[in-house]
Amino acid sequence: MSPRINSKVGAFVLALFILHLIVILSIIKYFTIAAVNRGLKNETSRIRVLSTGFKNHDFWENFIDSSEEDEDELEERKTELLSTIKVVNSKDEDEYEITGPLLTTTKIHITPIQIWTSYQTSHETTNRVQDLTTTTPATEKLPTLVTALLDIGRGKWRYYARTISIYHNYMFHVLSLKLPLVAFVDEHSYEFVLKTREKLGMLDQTKIWNITLEDLPLYRHINVIRGILENELTGRRWQDNWDNATQTHPEARSPEYDLVVNSKPYFLYNASTENPFDTSNFIWLDAGYGQGKPKNFPDEYIWEPNFPKDKVSLTKITPFYDPITRYTIDKLYRQDWSVVSGGFLAGNKQAVQRYYRYYHWKVVELLFKHQMIDDDQTILVMLINEYPELFNVLHGGWFDAFKLFQ
Ligand SMILES: *[C@@H]1O[C@H](CO)[C@@H](O)[C@H](O)[C@H]1NC(C)=O
Ligand SMILES: *[C@@H]1O[C@H](CO)[C@@H](O)[C@H](O)[C@H]1NC(C)=O
Ligand SMILES: *[C@@H]1O[C@H](CO)[C@@H](O)[C@H](O)[C@H]1NC(C)=O
Ligand SMILES: *[C@@H]1O[C@H](CO)[C@@H](O)[C@H](O)[C@H]1NC(C)=O
Repeated sequence: MSPRINSKVGAFVLALFILHLIVILSIIKYFTIAAVNRGLKNETSRIRVLSTGFKNHDFWENFIDSSEEDEDELEERKTELLSTIKVVNSKDEDEYEITGPLLTTTKIHITPIQIWTSYQTSHETTNRVQDLTTTTPATEKLPTLVTALLDIGRGKWRYYARTISIYHNYMFHVLSLKLPLVAFVDEHSYEFVLKTREKLGMLDQTKIWNITLEDLPLYRHINVIRGILENELTGRRWQDNWDNATQTHPEARSPEYDLVVNSKPYFLYNASTENPFDTSNFIWLDAGYGQGKPKNFPDEYIWEPNFPKDKVSLTKITPFYDPITRYTIDKLYRQDWSVVSGGFLAGNKQAVQRYYRYYHWKVVELLFKHQMIDDDQTILVMLINEYPELFNVLHGGWFDAFKLFQ
């Protein structure tokens, strides 16, 4: 063969090769885009970014419209989607570096907050797409911080003992936050809160209620709560499928503990009704939130968070791909498992008041219809499932509120 023919053949082979490459790349691109588009009900680019992040089949259930498809096709789609995804590096919990054919060379960074919020948005079954941009304007006054500390004799408990002075050490950090404060305390903590806020120069931004357990609306049911716990612990009503280890837990032993933790929504309601500092938003923080570790708190204890309007914001502890909808009361009652944190809750007046109403009736229903009482985390999960539109659930650690809301 002459060199001319040789180079012609070479060029032809090269052209063929390039053509092949183009065809293959187009096919890959077509399938990827098609897969992603078909997978999402109401697609936004944010969710598409999100959808390249995770190799978890359950996670994808929420993006795939199962009503139209048979099982095999669903599986095929999921496999198709998953095969397009590569997590190249996840350096730490807060950052995922990911890539996929859609973004052949682009590596993108997304935070769990974006993931969770997007997940929630796409997860909603109706058209109710949450408007993530609606937060209170930056000029809005700082929210009111609400907390409480009542001595229920925990220092003398056989299990999970914590003295009031341990709590004061914890609470000092919560009181240090530079926010207006409403605190519900009994005589054991009144002076402490007063002195602490005085030293910090925030007394004029402080309202302290000196209360006792009897001042709590649920106190009228304390004997019903006591009766339920006694029945359980003496074995009369203890069920085989409950976790025996939870018999040492505060919520299964102490009626006063149940009374106080289930009064958090009331404290928020009370503060938002009295509203001594005339603010739009209200934040609940447990007196022990952050467990006294400065690293859990924002720099200089300055925190100016924004929250979506008319929603109760809170933190979910279990991984983002673990949907709250799978938790029924039976999966949580007397089981050693936490889905959400009850240590932080926030919202405007309308949200926290609605929340209090629903919450109160849920407790009454549990007490009288089911002879059950649990801590606030369980009741929260049930309400989130019943009234999903009322909640703004972000994913994070126990003490992440300051990071998640800025
Ligand atoms: C997506 O949802 C929004 C908000 O409900 C709606 O207005 C829009 O028509 C939907 N788009 C599609 C393509 O379904
Ligand atoms: C708080 O109330 C108790 C009675 O419940 C009372 O003995 C105590 O003096 C009060 N403390 C303050 C600071 O008002
Ligand atoms: C819990 O304890 C009871 C006896 O008190 C026992 O019959 C039951 O098997 C235990 N359940 C579990 C899950 O260990
Ligand atoms: C708030 O709590 C205080 C102290 O128990 C009580 O005096 C007041 O009436 C409550 N306000 C509302 C609106 O519940």
